[in-house]
Amino acid sequence: MASLTMPILSTNFANSFSSSYVTHFRSSSKPTFPNRPRGIKVTCNAANGDPKIPSDTTEVSKKIDEETSLAKLDRRNVLLGIGGLYGATSFGTNPSAYAAPLAPTFTACHDSTDPDKKAIDCCPPTAAAADITDYVPAATKVNTRLAAHLVDDAWLAKYKKALTAMRKLDDSDPRSFKAQANVHCAYCNGGYYQDGYAESKLLLDVHSSWLFLPFHRWYLYFFERICQKYADDDTFAIPFWNWDNPLGMFFPSIFNDTSSPLYDSLRNSNHLTKVLDLSYDGTDTSEGTITVIKNNLITMYKQMVTQATTATAFFGKTFRAGDASDPGAGSIETTPHNNVHRWVGDPDESHGENMGSFYSAGRDPVFYCHHANVDRMWNLWNSLGGQNFTDSDWLNSSFYFYNEEAKPVKVFVKDCVDTKLLGYSYQTVDILWLNSTPKARRTGATLPSAPTPGEVFPTTLEKTITVAVKRPKKQRTKKEKQKSEEVLEISGIEYNVSEFVKFDVYINEDNPEESGPERTELLGSFINVPRGHSMISTTSKSFALTEVLEELGADNYETILVTLVPKSSTVTIKGLKIKFDNTKVSA
Ligand code: C2O
Repeated sequence: MASLTMPILSTNFANSFSSSYVTHFRSSSKPTFPNRPRGIKVTCNAANGDPKIPSDTTEVSKKIDEETSLAKLDRRNVLLGIGGLYGATSFGTNPSAYAAPLAPTFTACHDSTDPDKKAIDCCPPTAAAADITDYVPAATKVNTRLAAHLVDDAWLAKYKKALTAMRKLDDSDPRSFKAQANVHCAYCNGGYYQDGYAESKLLLDVHSSWLFLPFHRWYLYFFERICQKYADDDTFAIPFWNWDNPLGMFFPSIFNDTSSPLYDSLRNSNHLTKVLDLSYDGTDTSEGTITVIKNNLITMYKQMVTQATTATAFFGKTFRAGDASDPGAGSIETTPHNNVHRWVGDPDESHGENMGSFYSAGRDPVFYCHHANVDRMWNLWNSLGGQNFTDSDWLNSSFYFYNEEAKPVKVFVKDCVDTKLLGYSYQTVDILWLNSTPKARRTGATLPSAPTPGEVFPTTLEKTITVAVKRPKKQRTKKEKQKSEEVLEISGIEYNVSEFVKFDVYINEDNPEESGPERTELLGSFINVPRGHSMISTTSKSFALTEVLEELGADNYETILVTLVPKSSTVTIKGLKIKFDNTKVSA
């Protein structure tokens, strides 16, 4: 590792995080969100080795901003337009009557569907509504979740003790390892309808929307408390797979011991000792380890910085009661979250079980380790200045779990935004991707002509497609750029949810072969990890353009070239356009 020629930061997180940040962004006049120095207070209590995540990052503002009120107004019109779930008399007098936070039909869980369309029972024990209590966390101490490659034997013994006990519990016990795995299946593969919409069979899937991060945070929270109970240690915390750091870009070895309760046999055996490729699409790259590591860091930079300039871009699209599932995933959910699932799953199994398919993913103990790092990205994004949604439908959305005493509880998104109140933080490790910016292959490139989106879409993406897209406005002022993000939206993506799907998206690149993950030209990807239920789903995928177009010397272009490259089974795409997202995180 010492031979890496990438910027190695000092081991003092407090200094390295802020100084690297300042060095990089001082030289840049780009008004993208990292210019905002807020939330960079990182403290590190070196005395007891218990580092703290920034403290001032996740205050939830009660104030509904302009954007949110507009969204509500739209929704109200829609509801009235379809015959009205709400009486017209309350129009304009009681805006909360139009609120539509989501909740699952927890007390009426039904069979889920696996990718073969077979019914599987993933339901927890049936709870009587009267037995369910609202749960608000109020931790009095903060445990530290450690990087999986840095844990010691004493810690490992506790984790083994907990998992051994959970594996021994009867499957009917909601705290059993099997029942914990099934929580994921039920919330993903169609075990629940949306509360209030059971009759119309509107499913609640916690993936591909703004619910993705809060749902998995709560899921891990209860999993961790159950571990604490069976490890007989309330200071125990689950580990995180530090795949954003070169030292963590390998399968965590603690999960590799075949005699351990952390082991799972359904994995891709070729990947257990090889460097992890965060852009993995089912085909092993021929690049060397150092190149893969460097590309991974650049991918992390893109997903955490370039493609995370708005709440919508980071968390995923709004998902309210009455909406169809799968509105669109946020940056980290798409990449590397989905890629890592695919990387671990066994390609000899029909749907990449266990990790490579959502109904089975929770059966592999590494799932919880992977998701702890996904969850850690939310904290890091906040510490970079990223601000959570203030939309009350997000804050008031709820989930149900069984706690460590096997009691059913109801939890709200608004109560999980601060992990210190949940009783945990993450070990401090170097963040090398903050300095790992992509480089443009060409700047100010002369572009070949191409058809307009209107001439091409809707179409099936069977081969590479290039279109010339007109921008609503070029050379926006600094102020305009701070206020809103220029976004490329690919809409009406229709695909088979039971299959692995991926396509890559390039800007101003007429020769995609030339631009790998290290290039600005590669915007990112659309990715689906196999699920079940509705089988054909329609979603959308958006990419931030402001920083990218500046780096490509194309901010004065009226038209930009967008190239879509299929990497797996085909999808149909309805349209593609450039618009503005006003949920921008800016000064
Ligand atoms: Cu619920 Cu990693 O997915």
